[in-house]
Amino acid sequence: MEKRPAHREFFESIERKAKGFFRSARGSHDWDHTQRVLSLCLRIGKKEKGDLEILRLAALLHDIGRAAEDLSNGKICHSQAGASMAGKILKAHGIDQETIDRVIHCIQAHRFRKGAVPVSKEARILFDADKLDSIGAVGIGRAFLFAGEVGARLHNKDIEIRKTKPYTKEDTAYREYLVKLNKVKDRVFTKEGKRIARERHRFMVEFFERLNRETGGML
Ligand SMILES: [Fe+2]
Ligand SMILES: [Fe+2]
Repeated sequence: MEKRPAHREFFESIERKAKGFFRSARGSHDWDHTQRVLSLCLRIGKKEKGDLEILRLAALLHDIGRAAEDLSNGKICHSQAGASMAGKILKAHGIDQETIDRVIHCIQAHRFRKGAVPVSKEARILFDADKLDSIGAVGIGRAFLFAGEVGARLHNKDIEIRKTKPYTKEDTAYREYLVKLNKVKDRVFTKEGKRIARERHRFMVEFFERLNRETGGML
């Protein structure tokens, strides 16, 4: 990275810029999520010998397109929009094109949608860190927060997923767990990511089993 002098100031400036996009973010997808993803990226990055500077930039900027996606009611994809916004921010900070391209790839591929598969080590680490924040105790917390945001019920252990829709009263944390969260551990790429995922998955399974028993009056 060419921007060696004023290194700390550079990252602080990027962080300030990124944080500015989260002023009206809801709790389930806010700036705290970015900070948790950053911590996981650095932890996994050290173990997997990834480029920590690329990871820091990619983590800080990975969700800056989310507000644009929310405003467009999902028409804009936040990973694509965020990648081009990040490119402009980094260019304005005088960062070299190779670094910009590496960061852009991480951001574009962090959702794993059509045509954007994480190929580089750093992209795979960001993908894993982002997904890990959706499982375990923190994932459960976010799922309930999101359910609250869309006005869903606390729980429905007899839920029939095929008969329910997202963003409705039946969009419970348990639905999210059955549809998505219990599959996350099989989607992560890195060895360290898989290790963390297995541990977080175990806790999540235990939590929802217990919730079913408590709400059924069995515990
Ligand atoms: Fe995202
Ligand atoms: Fe994210």
